[in-house]
This record gives sequence, C-alpha cells and structure tokens, in this order.
Amino acid sequence: MLPAYIPNSMAAVFGGGRPIDGGRILKDGRRILGDGKTYRGLFAGIACGVLLGLFQMLFLTPASELLHISLPSFSGRGSTTMVILLSLASGSLFGDMFKSFFKRRLGMKRGASLPLVDQLDFVLGAWVFTYLSSPGWFAINFTRDIMVAVLVLTPLLHLTTNVVGYIIGVKKEPW
Ligand code: CTP
Ligand code: MG
Repeated sequence: MLPAYIPNSMAAVFGGGRPIDGGRILKDGRRILGDGKTYRGLFAGIACGVLLGLFQMLFLTPASELLHISLPSFSGRGSTTMVILLSLASGSLFGDMFKSFFKRRLGMKRGASLPLVDQLDFVLGAWVFTYLSSPGWFAINFTRDIMVAVLVLTPLLHLTTNVVGYIIGVKKEPW
C-alpha cells in the first residue's frame, strides 16, 4: 500500500498553484473540486508514489529475502511494475479527487472533515484502479485478510500522519 499512501502526503507537501478545476463553478454554485486539488499535488504525488514503489522493488524486496520475510513484488500475473505502481499511485489521488467532487456537491468547504471517507477514499481509488488494470496481480496480493487489515489500519495511520502534517505546517487541518 505504500505507493498508494505516499501520494497523499506528498500532494500536501508539494501541492499548490493552479487548481485542477481551473476555478470553475457548477450550477449548484459550488466549485467542481476546490482549491485543495491542484495539478502540482497530483503529478508530484503520483511521481513520489511510483518512485517509492521502485525503491521498494530495488532495495526492500532483496533485503526482506535476506531476513526471510516475504514482501510482495510489484509485478507478475500479466502486469508490469509500471502499470501496477501507476495504478496504485494515481488511483489513490483520483479516489481523493472523486471524494472532493462529492464533498463540494454536499456543500462542504475545502478541508471540511468527512470522517472515514477522508481516511479511505485513496485506498478505494487505488484498489479500483489496480483491480481494473491488473486483476490477476490484485487477486493474489489483496486477499480478504489483507484488505480487512488495510481498512482497519489505514484510518489510524492517516490520522497520525495528518496530525504530523498539521504540526509541521503542510496541512491546514489535523485530519
Ligand atoms: N493537494 C493538492 N492536490 C491534490 C491533492 C491534495 O494540491 N490532488 C494538497 C492541497 O494543498 C490540499 C492538501 O494537499 O489542501 C491536503 O489534501 P486534502 O486533505 O485531500 O485536501 P483538502 O484541502 O482537505 O480538500 P477537500 O475538502 O477537497 O478534501
Ligand atoms: Mg482534507
């Protein structure tokens, strides 16, 4: 899940500048996505997710073999590393954008909290993209037990990193 987690944090670090919706407003009088979704955040986030995945492949997988721990590989079952990493990283941020679209339709301002949805949007986005692009790889790596563990652990991890992000000043809210 790391290539899906890191794009969110790195979007907050590198984000800013031109919003993806170009400032446009829908008929309901609210922004399409809002100023919290920017091109810089999107592309920097995806790039960091893919780079982290490559780093894991190059260093962590061989190191884990020495320790006799088996870490999954980001390839196999008909999918290449690039397709899998791009799916995990871009799915994460598209899930997050999809959520922002609905937050705006509900009249929620940028940064307003939507418990559990804010913590799991990127997990679901990453899973949907990866399932669609790499169904065989998805099936052997995301077993039911692993998915349950991810759904339980991610909100806790997300809250912890966001409090850190708030303290160091890259996030406006601690959620
Ligand atoms: N960010 C970005 N581009 C993205 C995603 C995030 O620039 N595609 C940056 C923005 O600076 C954003 C911060 O990361 O404020 C935190 O992201 P998030 O919590 O997802 O955005 P919010 O500001 O809370 O906006 P929303 O209410 O739409 O979720
Ligand atoms: Mg937010």
